[in-house]
Amino acid sequence: LHSRLATGAGQVAPAAMAVESKPIDIIFGTQTGNAETVAESAANLARTKGFTPRVAEMDDISIDQLVAMQNLIVIISTYGEGEMPDNAHQFWDALSASTAPRLESLNYGVLALGDTSYDAFCQAGKLVDTRLEQLGAKRLSDRVDCDVDFEDAAEAWVANTIPDAGTAAPVAAPTPKSVKSGWGRKNPYAAKMIENRILSGTKSAKEIRHIGFDLGDSGLKYEAGDALGVIPINAPDLVQGWLDRFGISAETDVNGTAIGDQLSTQFEITTPSRDLIRALEPLVEDNELSHVIANGDKEALEHFLWGKDTLDLLNLKPDLALDPAQVLGWLKPIQHRAYSISSSPNANPGEVHLTVAAVRWMYENRPHRGVCSTFLSDLGAQGSTAGVFVSPNKSFRVPEDNSVPMIMVGPGTGIAPFRAFLQERHARGATGTNWLFFGDQHRTSDFIYEDEIGKFSKSGLLTRLDLAFSRDQSEKIYVQHRMTENGKDLYAQLEEGGYFYVCGDATHMAKDVDTALHHIIETQGGMTPEAATDYVNRLKREKRYVRDVY
Ligand code: 2AM
Repeated sequence: LHSRLATGAGQVAPAAMAVESKPIDIIFGTQTGNAETVAESAANLARTKGFTPRVAEMDDISIDQLVAMQNLIVIISTYGEGEMPDNAHQFWDALSASTAPRLESLNYGVLALGDTSYDAFCQAGKLVDTRLEQLGAKRLSDRVDCDVDFEDAAEAWVANTIPDAGTAAPVAAPTPKSVKSGWGRKNPYAAKMIENRILSGTKSAKEIRHIGFDLGDSGLKYEAGDALGVIPINAPDLVQGWLDRFGISAETDVNGTAIGDQLSTQFEITTPSRDLIRALEPLVEDNELSHVIANGDKEALEHFLWGKDTLDLLNLKPDLALDPAQVLGWLKPIQHRAYSISSSPNANPGEVHLTVAAVRWMYENRPHRGVCSTFLSDLGAQGSTAGVFVSPNKSFRVPEDNSVPMIMVGPGTGIAPFRAFLQERHARGATGTNWLFFGDQHRTSDFIYEDEIGKFSKSGLLTRLDLAFSRDQSEKIYVQHRMTENGKDLYAQLEEGGYFYVCGDATHMAKDVDTALHHIIETQGGMTPEAATDYVNRLKREKRYVRDVY
């Protein structure tokens, strides 16, 4: 996997062609691959400016290597509630330690990627930036914190931050266009939906669907483990609710365009933005809302917003006159959603599959729904299209070595990339064992892909299957319980060079699975908690413990 690094940090940089060229280190911390993409384009730019860029994941960089660097570009995303991405934890532990050395001779810049809908916006980038400054490093330029539509801001920051090396003749940048298909967030491919069928049973608490798209002549390429970006369109009845609230028709011109189109395709009108909440608060005169905002009580605000969409906020005072242009100014642009792809291109040429849980709820007698999951679910499989693009996740891959064991933990829709992995291992003729942990609430209604999994088991592709249906008995049984029960074998497979993958819920499941993994290594390996942590960290560094969690 490390071959993908332009020049692995710590290795000797290849001698520049004519004159000596200056090194610049570009390190990234990423959960879904965005920071890596930015790092790669930064490396291309650095090359044109006469540098020899070295690109590496943050966790592949030791403090000693950091001390030896002159120019450092850090591109780091924040994940969850202000957490470091999985491949930046070890770097951060070392950098934030009280024993970290001074870095007076280091010039650096931090580009932070994040999402303004979270409180701890760009927290990981802020922490690294502040810590490098504390240690005496000098900024090449100020940190920039990017929201989800990061591309333009990132490009501008990179251009502004990478200095001219001035020592070497600049080399022409390789054109990345030749390897990329050109489809992206701003230019999605209108893919034809060819399949949309429900996987969960009628009695399930969930609505999980198998969605298939035809890639046609798009040239879109993906690998098992990648995600598919989907551009949603807001539900017609929600758009109509807004139009009714304004008392205008879809054709009404607002800021030069028909408002109906803008509400359908341009703005996030399901989840209230901070700006919308702040702007409406003094206008709607709702005691509870004013109270929680005045107190700055985050949890009380969350509680207040529970179940409500934007329309419910506008309707806190139904007779309040609203200026459409002004309200649109309080909204955020609608964002694509990324879904872990559940197919391998080698098993399904020309197609891409998703496994999607449609989110729907009732609130005050009006049906409410999630944005993209229901957009997809409610599209008819005949003749519908959706704007899509591939969002690569290069660290989430089947092992290059076909003979090593693969352990996959993917309850609920977390199974998606593992369906792809199993197809991929089959296509590769891999001989290594494949072990899946799957679960959900009830076996009868929630065992999605049961037929396919049965076939995988029969054929011997799936060597081992452990199921955890949480509500089929009085006590809860979760995937991590099955792991612990089978701790001996699990540890033995890790010792054989096995890979351990987790996909699904980040808040509870992935944390508990991580705890169980540490525990298994401690007990089976006879290790102290510290030694088990070292063991887990080594797995992470070797890309043998990777997660796709959300
Ligand atoms: P529960 O809702 O019955 O508690 C998918 O939602 C599955 O994940 C459900 O079976 C759910 O169980 C389970 N789940 C909930 N919390 C979990 C946790 N901390 N670890 C693992 N699985 C969990």
